[in-house]
Order: sequence, then structure tokens, then C-alpha cells
Amino acid sequence: MTTSQVVFDPFSADFFNGPYETYRRMREEAPVYYSAEYDFYALTRHTDVAAAFRDFETYSSAYGVDLAMVRTGEKAPAKMIISLDPPEHRQMRSLVNKVFTPRAIGALRDMVSEQIDRYLAGVDPQGFDVVSDFSAFFPVEVITAMLGVPPEARQQVRLWIDESLHRDVGQIEMSESGIEAMAQSWLMYYDLITQRRAEPRDDMISGLIAAEVEREDGEISRLRGSEIAGFATLLGGAGAETVTKLVGAAAVMFARHPEQWRILAADRSKIPAAIEELLRYEAPAQYNVRRSQRDIHLHGTTIPAGKPVFLVGGSANRDPEAWTDPDVFDIDRNRTEAQNLGFGYGIHSCLGAALARLECGIALDKLLDFMPAYEVDWDRCERVSMQNVVGWSHVPVRVLR
Ligand code: HEM
Repeated sequence: MTTSQVVFDPFSADFFNGPYETYRRMREEAPVYYSAEYDFYALTRHTDVAAAFRDFETYSSAYGVDLAMVRTGEKAPAKMIISLDPPEHRQMRSLVNKVFTPRAIGALRDMVSEQIDRYLAGVDPQGFDVVSDFSAFFPVEVITAMLGVPPEARQQVRLWIDESLHRDVGQIEMSESGIEAMAQSWLMYYDLITQRRAEPRDDMISGLIAAEVEREDGEISRLRGSEIAGFATLLGGAGAETVTKLVGAAAVMFARHPEQWRILAADRSKIPAAIEELLRYEAPAQYNVRRSQRDIHLHGTTIPAGKPVFLVGGSANRDPEAWTDPDVFDIDRNRTEAQNLGFGYGIHSCLGAALARLECGIALDKLLDFMPAYEVDWDRCERVSMQNVVGWSHVPVRVLR
């Protein structure tokens, strides 16, 4: 009898639908997975993924962090923080870290709360979609408000991001409409930067215009317009899609585990633990791609230099070598067993983690009040088909009491 070889296709319905069975087979049968179809490698075991996230010299981000970019072999043209290696990464990170400290983010609590209230007030408890009527709206509102985007343009930013991340089955590259959407967003930020240069305000774009950064040659200079626009575009994408997905995953997971929803309703101090478990169980960002900078020998396989390597955090977070009963969703699980890779790890670990935790925490708290018991219309649930990101685009619910 021959057993079929495991196939991991990040542009397939299997991936879009949550490829946890595929991950299990990869961890067991092909811990250094090679895709002949797309010519990439993938690491799926917790120890390997965590080690690779930390080893930025071997696993470079400078060629981009998705397959379409890394496989060109060219350094990423837009200098975004996520696609910089040290020392440039360190310089940029220390600059923007100041905006994203837990303390600075804590000061945003009232604004975040208002945005969440505003969108929750608009839904009908008799039937609404947790994602497309609620969690799609507020995260982009929060991050673009921080940046200084005028209110009337904020939701447009979300539509542009959706367009750029969408992938049909088999589609690796961004579509024409995705490229057009990115160009529009870039232009909008350029305009905004021009306006803020003339008339600074109390927002992040004005702060970035005023900030100074130490360059590779030691020279101190202001950020270029393209760097600010690139950072703003990245923040919009990173800050909007992922929080939306985590709240969608919460609606699904707690409908499957109503007893845990009741426990959470009775003891709100467990909300942070619930968020970590959602991040572990269904990480909105499933993988990040790197480029191997040298030949890598691992588990009897050699990854040649210059190849795209997927670091599949979504699989590592379900690795039984790292977690007891990893496929069981349990908000009370022992979180110290392993490093949760849902926010990445190492130098590129999520800059917006404190903001994401704040937003998700407030959203869950308010949903617990709004829908202490609810049912999901499973037949009408839909998942997104995107690169990097997995999750739900539609989770229709009805509040029961
Ligand atoms: C649940 C929500 C979120 C998840 C699951 C998430 C996940 C991640 C992951 C996995 C990375 C690592 C990328 C890599 O190693 O290549 C990352 C980086 C990053 N995230 Fe998040 N993120 C979330 C929310 C946010 C928010 C709200 C923001 C901003 C407002 C944000 C901004 C960033 C930025 C700028 C980076 C790049 C950091 C660097 O390269 O140094 N993220 N995020």
C-alpha cells in the first residue's frame, strides 16, 4: 500500500478552511516540507518555527514576508518595518516602539471603547453578522484614527486592504485590482503627509514626520515620505484584518463551547487568557515567509540558500510536543507550557500586540453583555480566502436572551 504524500498549498481551499490536519501530517511526516509546485520550504514544528523566528540572520525578512515577494529574490522595494533586517529594523523599531508601549496604548482605552460601542449599537440582536456587521469596522477605525486619517476615508482603507489580501484558489500574486487598491491607499497617505507637513496635528503621521532616525551610516535624518506612507499602509493592514479575524474566531469558538462563554461572562478577569487561547487555537496570521540566507541542514533535509521558507506559527501553536491536547480549545489551559507564536516571535514580533489585546478585550467584554447566550447560523458562515490570514468573513448569530 502506498500512502499519499502530504500536500500543503497555502493558496488552496484546504488552507482557507483551516489546514490543521495538513499541519499535523507535516509535523509528523515532513518537518522540513518542500513544495515542488511553488518551490518553497515550510517549518511546522514548534521548536523549529520558534528558533527560525529568532534567527533573523539565517531567515531574512528583507525580501518580503509573503511568497509572491520572497520568490522574486529581490529585496522588498518599500522599506516597511516588517521587511527590514537589522540594523535598519532596529532603528525603525526603536522609533515606532514609543507609540505602541502598553502605557501609550492604555491611554487609547476610551477611544477604542467608543468605537466598539458605536458599531455594536447598530446591530440587531435578532440577527446580525459578528464579522461583517461588527468586527470588520472598529479595528480599522481605531488604527486610522491614530494615524490621522479623516473619518470619511477610514472604512475605505479597509476595503483597499481586503482587495490587496484577497486570493482566489491558486492565485499567488496580487490581482490587478489589489495593486490598484494599494496605489490608491499609498496616494491617500501621500496627500495626508503633505497636509501634515504644512500643518502638523496631534496624530501619528505628524509624529512620524517630526521623528528622527539613525541611518546605517550613523547619519541622523527625518523619515522620507515613502517610509511614512509605507508604515501607515502596513499598520492599516496589520492592525485591521487580524483583530477582525480574532473577534470572528471568538464568536465561532464560544458557540462551540458555550460553557466557556458562561465562565467568561461570570469572571471577566479570564478575558486576557481567552484572547491568548484564541490566538493559539486559530491564529489570524497563520504564517510568515522568510528567505534562507545560507544552506540550512535540518531533520536530514537541506534548505538551499535563497529559498522562501514558511514559518507556520499556526501549526506550531497546535504542536503536541509543545502543548498538552493542542486541538482542545480551553481558556483555562496552562499558558506557560510553550511560547504562543500567534503574535510571531523575536525581533519582528507584533508591534501592535498591546493594542490588539486591548481591542479584543473590550470587544469580548461588550459582546458578553450584549449576547450572553447566542446561536450561530452555521450554514451561512463563510471563511476568508486571503494570503497569510485565515478566519471568518461571515458569522451570522442570533442573541437568545
Ligand atoms: C490579533 C491581532 C494581531 C495578530 C494576530 C498579529 C500578528 C502579527 C504577527 C504574527 C507578526 C509577525 C510578522 C513577522 O514575523 O513577519 C506581526 C507583526 C506586526 N504587527 Fe501584528 N498582529 C495583530 C495586530 C496588530 C495590530 C493591531 C497592529 C498595529 C496597529 C499590528 C502591527 C504589526 C506590525 C507593524 C508588525 C511588524 C513588526 C516588525 O516587523 O517589527 N499588529 N503581527
